[in-house]
Amino acid sequence: MPSVVLIGGQWGDEGKGKVTDFLAEKADIVVRYQGGNNAGHTVVVGEEEFKLHLIPSGILYPDTICVIGNGVVIDPAVLIAELDYLAEKGISTDNLLISERAHIIMPYHKKLDEVTEISRGTGKIGTTKRGIGPVYMDKAGRIGIRFIDLLDKDVFSSLVKNNLEEKNKLLDQVYNSECFNANAIIEEYTTYADRLRKYAADTSILIYNMLRAGKNVLFEGAQGTLLDLDHGTYPFVTSSHPIAGAACTGAGVGPTEINKVLGIIKAYTTRVGEGPFPTELQNEAGQHLARKGHEVGTTTGRPRRCGWFDAVISRYTARINGLTNMAVTKLDVLTGLETLKICIGYKRGNEVISDFPASLKVLAECEPVYEEMPGWTEDITKITAFDELPKGAQNYLNRLNQLTGVPISIIGVGSRRSQTLIIDNLF
Ligand code: GDP
Ligand code: IMO
Ligand code: MG
Repeated sequence: MPSVVLIGGQWGDEGKGKVTDFLAEKADIVVRYQGGNNAGHTVVVGEEEFKLHLIPSGILYPDTICVIGNGVVIDPAVLIAELDYLAEKGISTDNLLISERAHIIMPYHKKLDEVTEISRGTGKIGTTKRGIGPVYMDKAGRIGIRFIDLLDKDVFSSLVKNNLEEKNKLLDQVYNSECFNANAIIEEYTTYADRLRKYAADTSILIYNMLRAGKNVLFEGAQGTLLDLDHGTYPFVTSSHPIAGAACTGAGVGPTEINKVLGIIKAYTTRVGEGPFPTELQNEAGQHLARKGHEVGTTTGRPRRCGWFDAVISRYTARINGLTNMAVTKLDVLTGLETLKICIGYKRGNEVISDFPASLKVLAECEPVYEEMPGWTEDITKITAFDELPKGAQNYLNRLNQLTGVPISIIGVGSRRSQTLIIDNLF
């Protein structure tokens, strides 16, 4: 009966890939339900590092079924490159299935992502330029191309031709940019269709049957709650719904099928791209986090902005996602900081704000209210149980638990599988 939705609790890069990989050992099936190759998930197994963008992080276990759900947007060239990359590393992808209803990223989506970012000037979002916004716009606009359409050359050709009539006008007349040739795209994408055809399935039925059979199902979210299109720091968000509720629409399961929601929350905060970030640090402590945490984007190689833990955000995440459990990752990165700060609320003039505001103008005027705690200096990367952690680390975790109101089930003390403390095994 156990089904777990795993989500990012901040602005992405919380370590979802590592925790998914860890839980995948016990999962029978891992399902991605939103986003695309804007995601970058690093999984370290022994001495080897795996970088995944589209394929669920459960793929490293040969017996685990991996699903790219209908809510995901797929760049077929990137997917094929990822399949080849895994094959080179000796990882089987025979257990991968792709929803026939997933939407396909087209060359004009990537171009539009690029030119719209340029035209926004200083107001740019800082997207990953992978075509994510434009492909979800077409999906909502009911002119998108789905995986099932890609597999039928006649249907695909007519959709490409229809779409290009509008896109080429837009690119040429509004953005003064190059246009695309329909036949060239059709030819290129036909080779992708031939390669990917064998993975196509009605994945909702498969997941339903596995749930009925009492199998362990793990839904793997990409991005994070504050990048959610509705609940994030709009417009500095992604174009999908990384929150737990989206697992239902993005995988094709009913809400009554979800048993647990695990929030992955970094012991501090990071963000890539533009947009507000109340606890951002521009000092030595921020540099410590960036350096020790290797905070560089997996997808774009951009440096991640770093700041203190923000409990206004973790409380918000707990509420919006209905968290039943949380994993605190990268605790080891805090080692060596003399004093740790936790943001417990925001101050705006004389007003204290304890709920995450919708207005970016209000958010920009918010000053974090900090609580200080002593840090620790002992190496914690080889610790295997909560009780063995230095008192400072135990107190810090207890405080995060108290402020967020969600039990901590998993603690990350390093990037490897083995560097994971388990308090409650979710499956
Ligand atoms: P995701 O997008 O949420 O999957 O996170 P990323 O993979 O983009 O970024 C997290 C980075 O931190 C990766 O390089 C992981 O290998 C690493 N990582 C994950 N958990 C831990 C941890 O507990 N400690 C340390 N030091 N690194 C971790
Ligand atoms: P994972 O799954 C961190 C950010 C981008 C940008 C905004 C919109 O690795 O946690 P998009 O290309 O989606 O239109 O960009 O969202 N962003 C991420 N930041 N981790 C991610 O994924 C992200 N995916 C998108 O930097 O600010
Ligand atoms: Mg990432």
